[in-house]
Amino acid sequence: MTPRVSRRSLLRAGSAAAAGALAPRLAFSFVRPPQDRRLRFGLIGCGGRGTGAAEDCLNAAPNVEVVALADAFKDRLAGCREHLLSLNHPGFKVADERCFVGLDSYRRLLECDLDLVLLASPPGFRPAHFEAAIASARHVFMEKPVAVDPPGLRRVLAAGEKAGEKGLAVVAGTQRRHEKKYVETIRRIHEGAIGRIVAGRCFWNQGGLWSHEKRPGWTDVEWQMRNWLYFTWLSGDHIVEQHVHNLDVMNWVLRAHPVSAVAVGGRQVRTEPRFGHIYDHFCVDYEYPGGVHVTSMCRQQPGTDGWVAEAVVGTEGRADPSAWIEGKDPWKFQGEPGSPYVQEHTDWLASIRAGAPLNETRAVAESTLTAILGREAAYTGKKIGWEEVLNSPLDLTPPGLAFGPLAVPPVARPGKAS
Ligand SMILES: NC(=O)c1ccc[n+]([C@@H]2O[C@H](COP(=O)([O-])OP(=O)(O)OC[C@H]3O[C@@H](n4cnc5c(N)ncnc54)[C@H](O)[C@@H]3O)[C@@H](O)[C@H]2O)c1
Repeated sequence: MTPRVSRRSLLRAGSAAAAGALAPRLAFSFVRPPQDRRLRFGLIGCGGRGTGAAEDCLNAAPNVEVVALADAFKDRLAGCREHLLSLNHPGFKVADERCFVGLDSYRRLLECDLDLVLLASPPGFRPAHFEAAIASARHVFMEKPVAVDPPGLRRVLAAGEKAGEKGLAVVAGTQRRHEKKYVETIRRIHEGAIGRIVAGRCFWNQGGLWSHEKRPGWTDVEWQMRNWLYFTWLSGDHIVEQHVHNLDVMNWVLRAHPVSAVAVGGRQVRTEPRFGHIYDHFCVDYEYPGGVHVTSMCRQQPGTDGWVAEAVVGTEGRADPSAWIEGKDPWKFQGEPGSPYVQEHTDWLASIRAGAPLNETRAVAESTLTAILGREAAYTGKKIGWEEVLNSPLDLTPPGLAFGPLAVPPVARPGKAS
């Protein structure tokens, strides 16, 4: 593993010190101010979001370079590299020898000389990738969700603690936390604009999503990985993969995580084998501390109405945490929205350069576990508590994962699933 103080940065520090000793007047021209320090990043998971995140990171602050790419599949890496090259950004520095393909590509990328890493593979791999990134002392931007099962979640929490001890910055792709309209509205709610919150609701209802037919030459594992949305060991199911955004807002507004959940769900419309074994709808009643209840609903059924939103009711008003407040202190967001996808990187990089690293691990881990809690309550048909799911041994990773045969797990049946 490359030491975190690279030869190049030692040389840079050495030449800066020498410049300072020999010609103090000139030192300023050799030493970049910390807010402009060059930061080099690698991307693990070069799909749609990874490619977008790399572009956003390049545009988020000056003097940022992308130097290495890793993906399970050559074609995905090539598409990402081509896109980043086409931006004509001066920070594009991806040489052939820093492109890595395969299930262990993340390890080889982490051997490069990097300051930062972006993690954007399917979430089933996130705990291993995050653990390795923190062990190698890299600052991390990681996409949500951060795990698909409780053992993975616990690995993420432990690595997040280590990041704190090492002074590493961790920012998560729950980008609403960096979106001005949410930040300003939720600050007012926290200041008491609607009194004490007594109830909430959140939704991610939408139509269908992409899938790929199995091609000759693809093993079962490759087919499942290329259709990762539809396999719980890879995506966590859509309540975890997608609805986590809205659940994250509820935890943020309530400054808590749920204590328990009761849920229903099923696979009613999207039943063909190409859609794996996940559900196509969930509805969860979450209980939060103080007897506050939050209704959560998510659906992926082609041809149905879309609705992605959050709302809270307080003792003195109500609010849409992304837009407005009604009640004793009415308010409406009217500023420029800005891009939260760029802002999350701007905040991350600024915290690194300022030596005041953000660490969002716990918040995104709790939101991920909130979604896992709802999924397990629906899969089993049982009321489940927070501690129970946090400490659960349920491990979804196929043992000894390698490209080869892998059966599709059965669809969870409430009353039968353990
Ligand atoms: N924050 C957001 O708004 C947002 C939006 C979309 C996706 N996402 C998240 O981003 C992540 C990626 O989603 P996507 O839409 O880019 O999916 P995608 O399928 O387009 O990309 C995933 C990439 O990861 C690669 N990959 C798979 N297994 C890998 C492994 N073990 N090692 C390295 N690479 C691997 C795939 O080959 C693919 O290129 C998911 O966690 C998803 O939930 C977040």
